[in-house]
Amino acid sequence: MPTMRTECLIDGEWVATRPDATAIAVEDPATGELVAEVPDCTGGEIDRALDAAAAALPGWRSTAAHARAAVVSRIGFLLRRDANRLATLMTREQGKPVAEAMGEVAYAAGFFENAAAVAPALLDGPLRESDLPGGKRLRVLAQGTGVTAAITPWNFPLAMIARKLAPALAAGCTQVVKPDERTPLCAIALAELAVEAGAPRGVVQVITCDPARFAERVFGHASTRLVSFTGSTAVGRLLISHSARRVIRLGLELGGLAPFIVLEDADLDLAVEQCAASKFRNAGQTCICANRILVHHRLHDDFADRLTAAATSLRVGHGLTPGVQVGPLIDDGAMARVEAQVADAIARGATITTGGHRVRVDGCRDRFYAPTVLKGVPTAADCFAEETFGPVAPIASFGSEDEAIDIANGTPYGLAAYVFTGDPSRADQLARRLEAGVIGVNDGLPSSAVAPFGGVKQSGWGREGGPEGILEYCDLRMVSIGTAPRGSPRE
Ligand code: SIN
Repeated sequence: MPTMRTECLIDGEWVATRPDATAIAVEDPATGELVAEVPDCTGGEIDRALDAAAAALPGWRSTAAHARAAVVSRIGFLLRRDANRLATLMTREQGKPVAEAMGEVAYAAGFFENAAAVAPALLDGPLRESDLPGGKRLRVLAQGTGVTAAITPWNFPLAMIARKLAPALAAGCTQVVKPDERTPLCAIALAELAVEAGAPRGVVQVITCDPARFAERVFGHASTRLVSFTGSTAVGRLLISHSARRVIRLGLELGGLAPFIVLEDADLDLAVEQCAASKFRNAGQTCICANRILVHHRLHDDFADRLTAAATSLRVGHGLTPGVQVGPLIDDGAMARVEAQVADAIARGATITTGGHRVRVDGCRDRFYAPTVLKGVPTAADCFAEETFGPVAPIASFGSEDEAIDIANGTPYGLAAYVFTGDPSRADQLARRLEAGVIGVNDGLPSSAVAPFGGVKQSGWGREGGPEGILEYCDLRMVSIGTAPRGSPRE
């Protein structure tokens, strides 16, 4: 086990669990082994962190954008330096295969590198300047919004924090991070690297606690300007209602139900390879996993056969075992949901071509589900209406492009969508018609630190990554400069 900290970082101090207080147990989801205990911070400790974030703000905000970027860039460097240690830690607390965890560390580092590269140009001077009628001049300024909080999920214990912390720091904001209780260790490790990189006291802090307590304190604190959340649409709705009280800005990356459309002119090998990559990474536990696979009726059976071969070849096991490609589900609730969706699809007439059962792994508990392919799935099945968050690939067929688009867009969600076709102009038209914030054309893995990631409809508000992700953490001001008094030099 790599060395790890288990304390929270509050106002520059590492705060450990107290012997007289409750602690949060962090378990290896594969084995149930206790990995660590972290503090269950009190309301008073959360307030202390927010006060410290407010106290640190003026100094950090007035630090030159290039100097902030140097700290941000160094965090990216330190993540890459410690990639092996962090990946092992991630696998222990989250379960994903260690090779995939290495990929996530690099993905996380990319957010710091992107923020360091693009923020100074946005924040050093005016964002834009132009002449207005009447001899006036318009100047648009971007400035970090202030104290921010990040509430992050268990499925990407490092990258989803990086996606929020990097732009916040680069924009001159301070941030209090609350990771999911199941996966706090990567968050604490990241805070430690931020301190090593030179983040001043109070600029980056980590709190572990009950989510409702955190939300109550954060939305009630006079200094909070923005809360960024990645997680379910149900929790997103709750945060929207909390934020109304003091009109606090929200960034929300919520649930998805990604359609994966394979048109009759698609390269089938590519479509199958990318579908398997999209569906089975992280054991299907991502918000942008292919959730509704729609294949032209002429290709349906062939596609199903090839995806079945790909799924069957995947190795299931403990994420630290070399060669494992699919790890455990995060908890028993996840297993129950996956099994219920598969049972529902079968009851409605779908056929299982591989999987459809749990997998026993030596020394581990019953948390592993075989990569599963279902063909001939009716679009009324539950797995076409609810996020699966498990390694189940349900395939339905369609007849026309319009039918595929209607099914794809016929949900309240719009995070990611995929389309496979050999015709670039058709791809371009479909990308415009699909109601989603992230669109993969012949690409099952579209995420990138330099691209603006986020949803439409009930999949969320705002964008993370790229220059757009930095501006989410900024207030924009327009300065209208009138005609200079006669005789004085014009600016
Ligand atoms: C998510 O599942 O929320 C994020 C997926 C990604 O960044 O690729």
